[in-house]
Amino acid sequence: MIHTEGLTKTFHRKKEVVEAVKGIDVDVREGELVAFLGPNGAGKSTTLRMLTSLLEPTSGRAEVAGFDIRTQPAEVRSRIGYIGQGNGGGFSYRVADELHNQGRFYGLPASEYQRRAADLLAALELDGLGKRTVQSLSGGQRRRLDVALGLMNHPPLLFLDEPTTGLDPHSRANLWEHIGVLRERYGMTIVLTTHYLDEADSMAERVVVIDHGTIVADAPPAALKRDHADDVVTLVVAGTPGSPAQVPDDVTRVRAALAPVVGEVGGGAGEPGRGGSDGPGDRLHATVGAGGDVTVTLSTTHGADRLPEAIESLRVAGLSVRSAGLKQASLDDVFLNLTGRSLREEAA
Ligand SMILES: Nc1ncnc2c1ncn2[C@@H]1O[C@H](COP(=O)(O)OP(=O)(O)O)[C@@H](O)[C@H]1O
Ligand SMILES: [Mg+2]
Repeated sequence: MIHTEGLTKTFHRKKEVVEAVKGIDVDVREGELVAFLGPNGAGKSTTLRMLTSLLEPTSGRAEVAGFDIRTQPAEVRSRIGYIGQGNGGGFSYRVADELHNQGRFYGLPASEYQRRAADLLAALELDGLGKRTVQSLSGGQRRRLDVALGLMNHPPLLFLDEPTTGLDPHSRANLWEHIGVLRERYGMTIVLTTHYLDEADSMAERVVVIDHGTIVADAPPAALKRDHADDVVTLVVAGTPGSPAQVPDDVTRVRAALAPVVGEVGGGAGEPGRGGSDGPGDRLHATVGAGGDVTVTLSTTHGADRLPEAIESLRVAGLSVRSAGLKQASLDDVFLNLTGRSLREEAA
């Protein structure tokens, strides 16, 4: 559906030169739902505007829905839907008129655009609102109208730029539900941008992480987390009661008990927060607290598997586990490990 090679865009604003997109190579297959994830200013919108033929690339090439964005922009546009960042509808127009105008724009006969408009209003839970003005809609309704406008030509490929930004959690979930239903119904390929980590994680089948105009990772969310971030298992093991002389022994016993569980014990010397892309090995860290208990942290790619294994191994070794916890890797950990910055903080 999409194939790009070295796509770049440089803006010249007065004396300032902004390299917004620095060489994007990306392929999207038919039927995929891909999210471009990155902080503000990463170059997501600029990339989308090039792929939709709204903006001429500075260099590189791209084929979208089978046509070259530079030489065949009209062919590209007739096969895509594009919902830009911010709202597209004219504020004082009526909802149905907006949809009908969009249909006319695509050269559809009246009977067809009326049918499609009614269909989309129903599908997006906007029925009954056709006669209302755009400005009278709520934020969530307005964004759903944007989606309806982008779907009037029944495009096989849909671009959505930050579809859920600014919506409350309920409206966001609702819009996602609609996107899912429409995708099924029309068999669409969908490319969207977001800076919401949780959304990219739970909704996208594939996440393209963009930072400073380049792709820093491209994989399904689970693979990104496996390759670029660790789960952390924490266990508190009861120390031997009585003498503090036991302390080094307790740590040794805990380590020995956990040795068969952990993949490759790094002795706790491993640098913290490092991703596992270059040969993941579990890293074990054990310290003795004030009360004599041994606190163990295990950084691993398979925390949910390691946790029960570790508890069982400690039990078999005659050690008693006081508490256990698991913090699973998030896309924020992935972004942090790849760029050294937290996307969560930048988004806030
Ligand atoms: N028309 C423009 N003129 C100059 N600079 C621009 C223009 N559009 C975007 N930029 C700059 O390009 C960079 C990428 O912007 P954008 O693609 O909108 O990022 P994102 O959508 O990821 O937030 C930013 O530094 C932005 O200020
Ligand atoms: Mg943007």
